[in-house]
Amino acid sequence: MTDERIVPMRLQRFLARAGVASRRGSEGLMTAGRVTVNGQVVTELGSKVDPLVDVVAVDGREVSLANTHAYLVLNKPRGFLSTMSDPHGRPCVRTLVPTSRYPGLFPVGRLDADTTGLLLFTTNGDASQRMLHPSMHVWKHYVALVRGVPTHGELERIRKGVPIDDSVAQPAHIEILDGHDQQALPVAPEGVPYGHSVVGLRIHEGKKHQVKRMLKAIGHEVIRLHRDEFGPIGLGEVSSGCWRELTERERADIEALVAQGRH
Ligand code: URA
Repeated sequence: MTDERIVPMRLQRFLARAGVASRRGSEGLMTAGRVTVNGQVVTELGSKVDPLVDVVAVDGREVSLANTHAYLVLNKPRGFLSTMSDPHGRPCVRTLVPTSRYPGLFPVGRLDADTTGLLLFTTNGDASQRMLHPSMHVWKHYVALVRGVPTHGELERIRKGVPIDDSVAQPAHIEILDGHDQQALPVAPEGVPYGHSVVGLRIHEGKKHQVKRMLKAIGHEVIRLHRDEFGPIGLGEVSSGCWRELTERERADIEALVAQGRH
């Protein structure tokens, strides 16, 4: 698991995150000798700072990450609830993310306890609300190990919009994945068992047990479910139970997505 106490970051990244300038612009400030760390001028671009400990200043003015929102992705393991606490004391994702570094961190939406994969966290309540709003149509990609092999006709039912319970699921993208495909690994690490198959499904709805219900509606029980994309964000190389911060590019993508919803 990632140790939240030891997360130094590059100084130019810190400055960009604090909103001082772009990363390139921040490098310019550093090489111009305008940035100090604990009172010492730092011009070396590889220098790192610990945002919890080091005092960073530009032209003598202290800067901090206090007013910037945190965004990170967790590779949720099986057996963890997507909540920050549980009255029954069951394992929660709270213990897997750096809440003391980022107070107010919470998950954007939920995954079932037995679902693994990408769970986005943020301290930005406004962005979270917008990303979850049905009108935003944020696409999510799931990989599922299912019993049986869906026929062409069954896949078409999902593509056209399959009735589930008292409503109809929106049309979704679905394909059968090759068991050797990298994407299939999280749900079939030892290969696809006989009489099963792996499907990739892209949906933009987020109702309770949405994927399991859609696949059940075409006659295929979900055995394992993993999410590997949420809107513009992919899980990347994050091991189960570990987290990573979004890159500057991903933050910008999320902010652009959220801004779109404001129109
Ligand atoms: N759909 C499900 O059925 N479960 C999840 O955890 C996410 C989507």
